[in-house]
Amino acid sequence: MGQERKLDGGDLTGLLLPQQNLALASPSNPSWTRERLQALIKSTFGQRRVVIVANRRPQPASQTEAGAAGGQPVSGLLSALIPLIEVSGGTWIGHDDNDNGLTAAQAKGNGNGRGKGNGNGQANGQINRQAIAATSSPPYQLRNVVIQAQDYEGYYNGFSNQGLWPLCHITYTEPQFKSADWHAYRRVNQHFAQAVLEETKGHRAIVFIQDYHLSLLAGLLKQKQPDLLVAHFWHIPWPHLDQLRTCPFHQEIITGLLGNDLLGFQTADHCANFLESVKRNQSRQRSQNPKQIAPESQTTTVKAFPISIDIRAHEDLATSEAAIKAMAKWRDKHQLHNKIIGIGIERLDYTKGLLQKMQAIEILLGKRPDLGGHFVFIQLAIRSRCQQRSYRELGDQLNQLVNKINQRHGNKEWMPIILQLDPHDQIDLVAIERLAKFCVVSSLHDGMNLVAKEFCAARIDNQGVLILSEFTGSAQELSGALMINPFAIDSIADAMLQAIAMDPQEEARRMIAMRNTISHQNIFRWGADIVQALKSIEGTRKQPCP
Ligand code: G6P
Repeated sequence: MGQERKLDGGDLTGLLLPQQNLALASPSNPSWTRERLQALIKSTFGQRRVVIVANRRPQPASQTEAGAAGGQPVSGLLSALIPLIEVSGGTWIGHDDNDNGLTAAQAKGNGNGRGKGNGNGQANGQINRQAIAATSSPPYQLRNVVIQAQDYEGYYNGFSNQGLWPLCHITYTEPQFKSADWHAYRRVNQHFAQAVLEETKGHRAIVFIQDYHLSLLAGLLKQKQPDLLVAHFWHIPWPHLDQLRTCPFHQEIITGLLGNDLLGFQTADHCANFLESVKRNQSRQRSQNPKQIAPESQTTTVKAFPISIDIRAHEDLATSEAAIKAMAKWRDKHQLHNKIIGIGIERLDYTKGLLQKMQAIEILLGKRPDLGGHFVFIQLAIRSRCQQRSYRELGDQLNQLVNKINQRHGNKEWMPIILQLDPHDQIDLVAIERLAKFCVVSSLHDGMNLVAKEFCAARIDNQGVLILSEFTGSAQELSGALMINPFAIDSIADAMLQAIAMDPQEEARRMIAMRNTISHQNIFRWGADIVQALKSIEGTRKQPCP
């Protein structure tokens, strides 16, 4: 997968830009499967323990089967990583906000479709080994890092989601960097480090860290155990330096990330932004302190790994009896028979361009009054991060806008927009994906956006049109989509018009191309590319990892 850059504290000029290699499968380049990846992990890392660390962790099978509302929380990260932990076995270390010492009322408001917290008052940083996911083979372990309510507020709601989240997404939402939040973030990263070190003690281990909640973790791990093999995948965009510098703690974040042996981003652009940040940061540090010599002991390889999905699992779901039943249920409940159906599926988040999408539907209805009674747009905007005012306000604004559009254009028998904010089972999502004439992903900025890929995966009939924001990582792969600039609302409406008018042959041509890309660039290839990159990094080490 493409070229890569290495950072070793020395001169960075002359290194090649990471490229994304999206060649399709061929006899010399066969598709990656669950089994092939499993064999690669076994032959590469043998008996070594694989540890995945992320803020969230999957819900144990027993809890999702018991019908916790919506099953797994809505998260692209979880849907991509669960097949990987299932393939590798090992341990997933994460935080379960049902088990964090929050009071029941606080936990209820967390908006992730989960049950109530138990308020059990466990000590901050305490680590519980929780469950073995019995449905997976090989089985994997879940370990919970307990985070007390006050630290969780600063680490998750504060620094991660009011600071880093808007900082990394170009949505013109002002990030907030409070030093109390930063201290909580640092403390929680230390708790995670403690959990990982306990898990890896006495074992040969590979640690695979996820996302922006844990940017300091690799640095903390390497201080204690320098020979640990550590990779980190950053699921969201990485901003330009001018933007990054607004974060008063950005140098510490960069230093933490340079503790990794391998640092992955979704796209080559995000890698380039990161490399530029490091380069300029280093030259600033040198000019401030010219006598200081950059440490040479640590080398970080920075590379693009576009994340993906288990397309076969989605296809199986889409062809299942349950999906057919769910399609019938949607049709009957919302009188969708013989209607042109558009869909949108996302978390209720200001990065997703939800208001712009609804405004575009209003323009569409204005341009095409003949669609009255014949067109329905189903928007699922699953409540998320409800403890934050900006997320709650977005929910109110969206509801008001949809009501206004429905009142203006609808009538007693027909409403153009169905808006639902509650979580749905995966089967309900697959069902509307199959029913839709088109799906609109209007993110203002998005690391990858897996809904775009899931929509194509569900379209085993090779029909349906994907309308995709050019500011998503997926837009670099899914060239069969109708590309939109979500800030240009007219262009979204025009793309909807084009999708409605598209003939089945054109739909098939575009959809087949996108499905081929996703079949090839699937989640197992993503995992294999990372394993192979780690293997070659380990090969260049003087001493093997423990
Ligand atoms: C994005 C982030 C993930 C996160 C997910 C859901 O995809 O990259 O790390 O898990 O959003 O957000 P939440 O705050 O509910 O975990």
